[in-house]
Amino acid sequence: MNSNTICACACGCAEKLSLKEKFKNDFKIGASIPGALFMEEQKDQIELLTSQFNLVTPENLMKWDSIQKVEGEYHFEVADRFMDFAEKHNLEVHGHTLIWHAQTPEWVFKNPDGSLPPRKQALKRMEAHIHTVMGRYKGRIAVWDVVNEAFKNEGELRKSVWFEMIGEDYLEHAHRFAREADPNALLCLNDYDTFLPKKCDKLIETATELKKKGLVDAIGLQDHLQLKTPSLEDYERTLAACSATGLKVMITELDVSFKPFKWKYFGNDEEKIEFSPEEIVLLHSYQAEKRVPPELDAEFSQRYADLFHLYRKYSESIYSVGFWCLSDKTSWLNSNPIKDNYPLLFDRELKPKNAYYRIMKEV
Ligand code: GLA
Repeated sequence: MNSNTICACACGCAEKLSLKEKFKNDFKIGASIPGALFMEEQKDQIELLTSQFNLVTPENLMKWDSIQKVEGEYHFEVADRFMDFAEKHNLEVHGHTLIWHAQTPEWVFKNPDGSLPPRKQALKRMEAHIHTVMGRYKGRIAVWDVVNEAFKNEGELRKSVWFEMIGEDYLEHAHRFAREADPNALLCLNDYDTFLPKKCDKLIETATELKKKGLVDAIGLQDHLQLKTPSLEDYERTLAACSATGLKVMITELDVSFKPFKWKYFGNDEEKIEFSPEEIVLLHSYQAEKRVPPELDAEFSQRYADLFHLYRKYSESIYSVGFWCLSDKTSWLNSNPIKDNYPLLFDRELKPKNAYYRIMKEV
């Protein structure tokens, strides 16, 4: 057993467990990583990753703007090293992501004269990208997020540039290209804020249509959650509804933010950011602690214990529970504009938090 495997009850006893072992009969346990982790051989983080997790997602290095910045010029150096790293350590790979409105170079969405590329050309570009990227790793990547964030929170298809260029059927085309490129890969439809009822309904309706055509295998719930929202009831409603589709459910980007979390804050949305005065205070708090604020520790641990109880309850349909980032040291919720956040199970020194021990003991 790896030396970094942690005593399950925080007392240092011999009963050593890891997340991946604890849940080995339920679902896979994943984390996303940046290229730096393996390019710079960050030993401590590699040890944490390989001792606790059995699935890995590339944070940015397989996104369109990392792989095909210029039309037809594919760069696979970092992605190839990521794959070698994952395979060397027996980590299953969740590929992320083929089609998205963000982190995609401008040439995909704009002709040199500024006009919108016509449908035929957009479909050709989509097909070439999906076939080339998935084709390169055919048989080696178990799961692919095909279209990321296709839905609006209000329950409709997002009018992204992909939608504008191709039309409503762009999703189906993307999934068809992905199926052709690697028929054995699981295809996942991944989105955030899926606990919102209208968004959940639309996601399920679309996934069910794609399922009838044999074009999707999983629903991906990103699950960038907050300490108090959504309520557990709202959260479970989505989990139950997704499980009832007969598709696999993948928790793809789990974290629990202490701070007000609005997607538009991150430039993912065009709407105006509005924070209440209380939220603004919260945004600037917890600067000194550099760890979960003691007065919130019990609530934070409870939140994670509650979530993992639900994951166990729905484990027949849940394929994986993946975190976005490995520890608070590298969490995206600690970079601009949000700072001083402590959203994961491992702290900035890579040590397990009380939330980790609650899960290990109680779930
Ligand atoms: C979204 C995307 C991820 C990543 C996270 C936060 O959820 O799917 O690729 O960008 O935001 O960084």
